[in-house]
Amino acid sequence: MDTKDTKHSIEVCFSPALYGLHHNPESVVVVIDVLRATTAICTAFINGATEIIPVGNTEEARLYKQKGFLVAAERDGNTLDFADLGNSPFNFTPEIVANKSIVYSTTNGTQAINMASGAHKVLVAAFLNLSAICNLLAAEKRSVVLFCAGWKNKFSLEDSLLAGAIAEKLIASGTFKTECDSAHAAMDLWSLAQSNVLDYVEKAAQRHRLRSKQLDDVLEYCFSVDITEIVPVVAGNKVVI
Ligand code: MLT
Repeated sequence: MDTKDTKHSIEVCFSPALYGLHHNPESVVVVIDVLRATTAICTAFINGATEIIPVGNTEEARLYKQKGFLVAAERDGNTLDFADLGNSPFNFTPEIVANKSIVYSTTNGTQAINMASGAHKVLVAAFLNLSAICNLLAAEKRSVVLFCAGWKNKFSLEDSLLAGAIAEKLIASGTFKTECDSAHAAMDLWSLAQSNVLDYVEKAAQRHRLRSKQLDDVLEYCFSVDITEIVPVVAGNKVVI
């Protein structure tokens, strides 16, 4: 239980397969999918989207499309044939998303958002909003679970790096602590990579998947730090700001 006098705990969940072990209805959960879902969500809001409806399965997304919604849907990096948009943050331009509600279904990121919905609050993080996320978490004064969406339940380097960057900032603020080995591992990984993240991320499997499909034009953008103050938050079955 959080109290005024204690530091708030940080846990890092490295995979959706482990989320049940970290779930705590009192915690704020921060969903992380750097390449590319949570970066794309932040970008959609930067460019004026009003809400995002994360849906788990593609049939549900197809039904929304039939009802006239703007739909972004991807599996294994590929845009689904019925969707208006894929998963590149560069698809979510102001011309396309301003003042729009977007239905969104992706391989990992939107699944993680839906899994976390029983938490006290669910926030969406990217490098784009790193400091804004940390400021909001400090104001919440609650335990935090940094939830890496990974890839099909596997560990992912890029999500773990952002979890490490957030954990490090929170602990430096003086009001958080961690006794979670995965949080320490994420911070150690971040300290190894932070002087040149793009070089480090050359090792990442998702980096190679995106390159093999010629979808890696977004790399530099996805690791841009603090370009927005926007922090998307889950409200019911939607993500809003
Ligand atoms: C996802 O949500 O699974 C990913 O972000 C997939 C991708 O963009 O390639």
